Amino acid sequence: MKTLYYKIDRDYPDPQIMKAAADIIRQGKLVAFPTETVYGLGANGLDAAAVGRIFQAKGRPSDNPLILHIADRQELDKLVTAVPGWLDPLLAKFWPGPFTVVLPHSKIVPDAVTAGLDTVAVRLPSLGAARELILAAGVPIAAPSANLSGRPSPTTAEAVMADMEGRIEMVLDAGPCDVGLESTVLDCSAQPPTILRPGGVTQEMLESCLIQVRSAGRSKVDDAAVPRAPGMKYRHYAPAAPLVLFPVGSGSAVTNSSDQLLAALIAGISEGKAVGAVVSAELAERLPPGVTIAVYGSRKCPAETAAGLYEALRFFDTHPVDVIFAEGVREEGIGRALMNRLYKAASSVEKES
Ligand code: TXA
Ligand code: MG
Repeated sequence: MKTLYYKIDRDYPDPQIMKAAADIIRQGKLVAFPTETVYGLGANGLDAAAVGRIFQAKGRPSDNPLILHIADRQELDKLVTAVPGWLDPLLAKFWPGPFTVVLPHSKIVPDAVTAGLDTVAVRLPSLGAARELILAAGVPIAAPSANLSGRPSPTTAEAVMADMEGRIEMVLDAGPCDVGLESTVLDCSAQPPTILRPGGVTQEMLESCLIQVRSAGRSKVDDAAVPRAPGMKYRHYAPAAPLVLFPVGSGSAVTNSSDQLLAALIAGISEGKAVGAVVSAELAERLPPGVTIAVYGSRKCPAETAAGLYEALRFFDTHPVDVIFAEGVREEGIGRALMNRLYKAASSVEKES
């Protein structure tokens, strides 16, 4: 299949192009589109056959449910059985934005979207181009991240094309995504509400609204004490080479973990390995020659490191190495989301010394 590709303005996209994209969605076909978090792979969220095509194009396991994207708060009421009163102020504050709520679904939501669960995930994105597409389509748009299953989410249209060219009808390009990590998923179907996936709306931000939230385990895949988003059980976001993660400790352990990473990297080089590093700008300055380096951002700017992570991981698609060493960040604010993704990208995690 030929994949049509259009550049659009992120706030005021060309109405002609948006109409063409909306027609494709209404015909039950697939359009990859930008949001403020990552690029999504969109289909008509009320059409089970169209939703099935998303799973096919991504190679996604069918037990992993999708998020429905809406352009207007009122649309939520049609998709869920009820919106609890305590949630209203949160929606007023964090919508539109990188915030997804999970609630018991109404009858119009197909099983293909929810993977047969009683609940549905819904998000109102803030990027103008995303909302224009949803409005033009006139239906909720089901959209996972527009990557092949298991790969890092795309934060640019080039990354979408690398995974999806020839598999979908259209790609809309509005440049790099601002947040760069997927939305926060909050299960609102039980008390206390539980963060199933950390993202752009942080635990600290939710708690500042005087909402008690529970977090579904720490960042690691295997330490969940409560059920999490079905998608979070899979190894994810993984670059081609094995990735070894060096989490930061606290106090003096922060510098220790950098030293540990340096020592492992020098050992790898001396064994004749092609060594890669996914690190902060600060640590990159200390690395020896011969290392293939992808910088995710500066330690001084957590939002920048979050936005840079997936491109740093994808850099190794075109710069192959034998092993990648990744520097962790502090698990606070958006850093929690970044570490959550790094744990899932990692094939092994170094113990803090
Ligand atoms: O930022 C985002 O959320 C992006 C953009 C495109 O909006 N979308 C995205 O979708 O990341 P996806 O499919 O890659 O991740 C959706 C996550 C998965 O971990 C899935 O298991 C979880 O949300 N999820 C969806 N429906 C759920 C439900 N009913 N209950 C629990 N978890 C659910
Ligand atoms: Mg995804």
